Amino acid sequence: MNVASALNPAAPTGLTSSIYGVGAEGLDSDAFGMAQALIGSRQNVSPKRLIKPGPSATQLDALLSLAATAPDHGLLNPWRFIIVRAEQRHRLGEVFALALIDRDPGATLEQIESAREKAHRAPLLLVAVACLGAREPDTPSLERMVSMGAAIQNLLLGAHAMGYGAGLTSGQAMASPRLHRLCGLTEGEVPVCCVNIGTVTKRKASARLRPTPSEFASELPNESATGGV
Ligand SMILES: Cc1cc2nc3c(=O)[nH]c(=O)nc-3n(C[C@H](O)[C@H](O)[C@H](O)COP(=O)(O)O)c2cc1C
Repeated sequence: MNVASALNPAAPTGLTSSIYGVGAEGLDSDAFGMAQALIGSRQNVSPKRLIKPGPSATQLDALLSLAATAPDHGLLNPWRFIIVRAEQRHRLGEVFALALIDRDPGATLEQIESAREKAHRAPLLLVAVACLGAREPDTPSLERMVSMGAAIQNLLLGAHAMGYGAGLTSGQAMASPRLHRLCGLTEGEVPVCCVNIGTVTKRKASARLRPTPSEFASELPNESATGGV
């Protein structure tokens, strides 16, 4: 059973209309319970464990529409996704291989082949690109990255709700000018990671231990502790 039907057994397989495309007034009374079940059960799935089928064209469109709901200070749309179709993956693989050779001319054939192979794993691969160049208003890069992260998380959660697995991959090839050229990036555009989506062959035996709220949330320190402002 995928997550969507686990959350709502009456719902058809795929995106549930109760969590997509409606205003808050349209959310059903257990929306928080559904959010907890969905968000709490997401986990990164290695592309090695993602096989066909991947999302259909309609599902991909729905996922990208979810990405578009990310918070966006200044309404800059400071990110974009580049879809690398199966028939183009060899070009991405070549970039991964050459980027490795650029930084390590002594890389073995096996290492080069392994780098190349990473482009061919998940049925759907998107390169997530942050747009940090001059824009009006000039929202700071940090804030644009927050928007990018939210867009990616929306994609991951949407894919999870559809019953797919999804995982992020990055690595040093992200910084290679070769990837920049392959993706046709313009001034100020930065590839951040790849979003890989597909059908899960095998999930991790157990979810990672998540930090508890007390580990990352605290009260404002007393003035006596900070020495005032
Ligand atoms: C920007 C970004 C890049 C990532 N790149 C990689 C990667 O190259 N390889 C990898 O195994 N995981 C990568 N991850 C996934 C994290 O390893 C994963 O989110 C983390 O282990 C926590 O697991 P969880 O997502 O299941 O909670 C990346 C995550 C982010 C946010």
